Amino acid sequence: MVNSLAPFVPSRPEVVKRMLEIAYVGPKDIVIDLGCGDGRILIAAVKDFGADKAIGYEMRKDLYKQTLNDIERQNLEDKITLINDDLLKADLSQATVITLYLTTSGNERLKPKLENESKNRSRIVSHDFSITGWNPSMKEEFSSHSIYLYIMPESSAKKESNPRFRYKYFRHQASKIQRYFSKN
Ligand SMILES: C[S@@+](CC[C@H](N)C(=O)[O-])C[C@H]1O[C@@H](n2cnc3c(N)ncnc32)[C@H](O)[C@@H]1O
Repeated sequence: MVNSLAPFVPSRPEVVKRMLEIAYVGPKDIVIDLGCGDGRILIAAVKDFGADKAIGYEMRKDLYKQTLNDIERQNLEDKITLINDDLLKADLSQATVITLYLTTSGNERLKPKLENESKNRSRIVSHDFSITGWNPSMKEEFSSHSIYLYIMPESSAKKESNPRFRYKYFRHQASKIQRYFSKN
């Protein structure tokens, strides 16, 4: 039995776009949406941002089937993998970008997994809900929503640092990060 960490509430298209922009998603990225709903983040990542691959975990069979049909209709089967299972069992080893739209308590359940399994230099983008105790590299208020960006492992480190500086640095380093992932 899978425990729900959030109800299905789709991110608005402009918020999806902004989440992927903030994370600088590009052709070297493998994007994982944990609780992917109707797959809109996955589809935008590969179609609009040219991500190499996108992987979605969704517990609801109806949404999984609907999204799978949509992916097939758009001939995106080579680019998008959909898994009808608990996001707490997700394989994060490939992900360079992880997207979340859960709840504060859902993020709390997921936090140890993100700390232990997310790849070095991966970016975690969370819609509306922060990850308690972590330092976001940036937080943006956008279209009445909040978007949090965490860069691993620094954002999960306990010590304080200047988050703005880290995002400025990240933007500066974005192309280097892309190159890093192309070799690893
Ligand atoms: C708020 S919706 C977000 C959908 C999509 N990520 C978006 O931003 O449009 C959260 C989704 O997570 C799914 N979900 C909740 N708990 C889950 C779990 N333990 N495993 C897999 N999916 C889960 C829900 O069914 C729902 O579709």
